[in-house]
Formats: sequence, structure tokens, C-alpha cells
Amino acid sequence: MRLYKIPHASGIDSLTMVEAETPHPARGQVLVRMRAASLNYRDLMIVQGRAARGAPAADLVPLSDGAGEVVAVGPDVTRVKPGDRVAAAFMQSWIGGPIGPEDAPSSLGGAIDGVLAEYKLFDHTGLVHIPDHLSFEQAATLPCAAVTAWNALFGGQPMLPGDSVLVLGTGGVSVFALQFAVAAGFTVVATSSSDAKLDTMRRLGATHGINYRTEPEWQDRVVALTGGGVARVVEVGGPGTLGRSIAAARQGGEIGLIGVLTTGGDISPVTAMRKGLILRGIYVGSRQMFEAMNRAISTHKLEPVIDRVFPFEQAADAYRHLESQKHLGKIVIRIGD
Ligand SMILES: NC(=O)c1ccc[n+]([C@@H]2O[C@H](COP(=O)([O-])OP(=O)(O)OC[C@H]3O[C@@H](n4cnc5c(N)ncnc54)[C@H](OP(=O)(O)O)[C@@H]3O)[C@@H](O)[C@H]2O)c1
Repeated sequence: MRLYKIPHASGIDSLTMVEAETPHPARGQVLVRMRAASLNYRDLMIVQGRAARGAPAADLVPLSDGAGEVVAVGPDVTRVKPGDRVAAAFMQSWIGGPIGPEDAPSSLGGAIDGVLAEYKLFDHTGLVHIPDHLSFEQAATLPCAAVTAWNALFGGQPMLPGDSVLVLGTGGVSVFALQFAVAAGFTVVATSSSDAKLDTMRRLGATHGINYRTEPEWQDRVVALTGGGVARVVEVGGPGTLGRSIAAARQGGEIGLIGVLTTGGDISPVTAMRKGLILRGIYVGSRQMFEAMNRAISTHKLEPVIDRVFPFEQAADAYRHLESQKHLGKIVIRIGD
């Protein structure tokens, strides 16, 4: 079988395709023929050696997100059978409840080998069935970006239909947050550096779009458009946007702390304190969140927004497309025919 490794994380060119023996499942393990994988901003940070936990282990197999079909199972596997269509949970050990100290060290494509391979062994407890109406390429977009968006909207204090949500930019997490928010009956304000992308976000259901380049004080308009601020911010910007996100939130609102796309920024806790905001750290989500999200995706027949699909042999081009930030939604790599 063929797979990719990162011998030394020195940039996209360090991605290396290699050949290896196809593994066999031991007790509790499942062999999955991977059919598609998808990229997240984190994968760019990892290949560039600037991930939060530093350079990855040498020869890491990249990418957390993929989908495929079960081809063989070891003894004592009860949750899946050959022929099942599955995806892997981002953190293989986090089943439900609050995140534990053992869970981050089980993250695919970062702490442990990932899914950019033609075949991959998983523990059966780390797999979920994918919605029937989704292709492998669509399902490969779910494990990180979609579960993160789901957790930001539904893992904190309850939201009600009619509440408003702010999503920043038009990357993978933000577009899923828009789709889930629209399905749940929330009003969505979207920001982007591109008017064309804002048009697409409106077509996907955003009520308002604000260009954060031409309108740098966008938080004032969010407050005006929503009659006092949003109930929830899906905060993917980090230090450079958090102060404005705090200003854009309503009294008692909640900010999901997710991303680190920006640096700088001078954040005072005073506004958050006076508004009684909840600042909630989010690290993707559990397998049970993934399963709950899949039920919603199936019920609403939601389809992930895929910007572009690249063949397995052109994985590096997929990374370069992510780096360009020209995409809206998800970038996918097809594995096999
Ligand atoms: N904590 C977690 O569990 C978790 C999970 C997933 C992702 N993340 C983090 O969340 C962030 C987004 O990830 P992703 O995979 O969705 O990224 P992505 O698909 O690469 O999307 C990046 C998009 O962010 C937007 N952006 C960049 N700078 C911005 C700014 N100053 N203000 C508003 N938007 C800005 C741009 O949208 P426009 O082109 O429209 O301007 C860009 O296309 C990353 O920092 C990632 O590491 C964290």
C-alpha cells in the first residue's frame, strides 16, 4: 500500500509518499480501506513544524480526517463489520463526557499517525458510521472541522431558535457552523475578506455578511445588525480577533475559543466580565458528539461544502491550496479510484 509521511516537518515539500506492507488487524482492531481524506488548518501547521506542541514525531503519517470502508476486523470487534462505511474520531480515546488528559495524545495526524494512507488500522472504539447519503469524500470532511463547529454550537450553554451566531471567515469550521446554525433555526452573521465568499455564505443561509478587510470595526455592525450582539461566537481567529468577538457578543453570550489564525491583539477581560460572557475552550469533540452530529446531518440531509478534490498523488497541491486561503469550506484528497 501507499501512504504519506512527514520525515521532517520543514514545509509542504517535506510530504513524502512511501510504500509499506498492508497491516493485519489484531484483537479489537479494524482495517479500513481509506477512500478520502480532508485537510484542516492544523495540518498546514504540522507540516510546517509550527503546531502548538512543536514539531511532530519524525515520519508522522499526516491528516486526522478520513473516511473509508471496513475490509477486515480482528477478534472481539463488535462495533463494525466488513463493508461498513466509517470515519475515525479525531481523538481516538475520547468517547464522551469531558475531555481527559489522555485524549489529546490520541489525536490522529498529530500525536499519533494519521489517515493519509491507502489502508489504516484503527481500534474499533475510535470509529463512527458515516451518514448514508454522504459520499466518502463528503464524509472525510467531518471528524475535525464539523465536530468542532458542532461542539461550539451545541456543547455549551443551550441555544434557542432565533438566537444569533457569528462565524469568522469561510474556512472549514466556519462553514460547518453556518450550516448547523441554519438547520437549528439560528440567525447567522458571517465575516470574510472576500465579497464573493460572502455572497456564497448568504446563499448557504447567512442572514448578514461583513467584509472584515473593508470594515475593520466589524464588531460594531454585528451589534447593530443583531440588536445588541450575538448569543454565540465561533471564534476561529484567536488573539487578533478575540477582542472584537467579545465586543460583538450580547450580554450573557458565549464564545467558543477555537482558532489561532491570527496573532497580536490586546485583550482586556473587563468587557467579558461586565457582559457575563462564557469563554469556552474547544478542542474538537468526543466520539459521542460526532455520532450526535451525524444524526443531525442525516435528518437534515446536510451536505458538506467541498471547495476542491485532489487526487492522492497530488496531496502537496491540496496543502498549497489550503495555504492560499482561496478556498471556502473543505479541501479533500481522493484515495484510490
Ligand atoms: N480548537 C479546535 O479544536 C480546532 C478545530 C479545528 C480548527 N481549529 C482552528 O480554527 C482555525 C480555522 O480552522 P479551519 O480548518 O476552519 O481553517 P481554514 O479552512 O484554513 O480557513 C481559514 C479561513 O479563515 C479566515 N480568516 C483568516 N484570517 C482571518 C481573520 N483575521 N478574521 C476572520 N477570518 C479569518 C479566512 O476566511 P476568508 O478567506 O473568508 O477571509 C480563511 O480562508 C484554525 O486556527 C485552526 O487551527 C481549531
